[in-house]
Amino acid sequence: MIRKRTAILISGRGSNMLALIEAAKAADYPAEIVGVFSNKLDAGGLAIAREHGIATAALSHRDYPDRAAFDTVIDAQLREWGAEIVCLAGFMRVLSTPFVEHWRGRMLNIHPSLLPAFRGLDTHQRALDAGVSEHGCTVHWVTPGLDEGDVILQARVPVLYGDTPDTLAARILVEEHRIYPIALATVARGDVQT
Ligand code: GRF
Repeated sequence: MIRKRTAILISGRGSNMLALIEAAKAADYPAEIVGVFSNKLDAGGLAIAREHGIATAALSHRDYPDRAAFDTVIDAQLREWGAEIVCLAGFMRVLSTPFVEHWRGRMLNIHPSLLPAFRGLDTHQRALDAGVSEHGCTVHWVTPGLDEGDVILQARVPVLYGDTPDTLAARILVEEHRIYPIALATVARGDVQT
């Protein structure tokens, strides 16, 4: 079986990254994780990736004059790894349009809301403020508009009485870890296209 070479972009603890790494250990999983890139030098996920024998690279966007220059360096790293698919997993930086267009149809993101509801940040607080009875997470294609690409897979959770942003985030994170590997497998097999 041909496994699609997949790179992951992170900025933080990397729990979704780990879910993808673990899933890709199965012999019949259609993607292999070839590298993890972080724009934060101290991202917790970098050490976790290394513990699992995955190549890592970390560069700070602060060392580059503008977004385009930084994205060019990310792109060079992805080419070096021979990446065919890119998974954003808590990558907290907007990517430039040329970069997104270059990877269009090959780049996924996980977002902690039921898109198109609650694009952007602080989704759990905003869901509670809005009084919704259901919330969740979405794996979607990355397009130039923030959190606007077509949905690949979603999972719903109930909003419970007494929920805080933290309790809601924890309930949804379990679902993120469940659906992201399924979504990547579906993309890697070519069973879904944007
Ligand atoms: C997740 O909630 C994800 O949906 C969002 O950022 C968070 C990243 O968490 N995009 P982790 O780094 O994967 O643990």
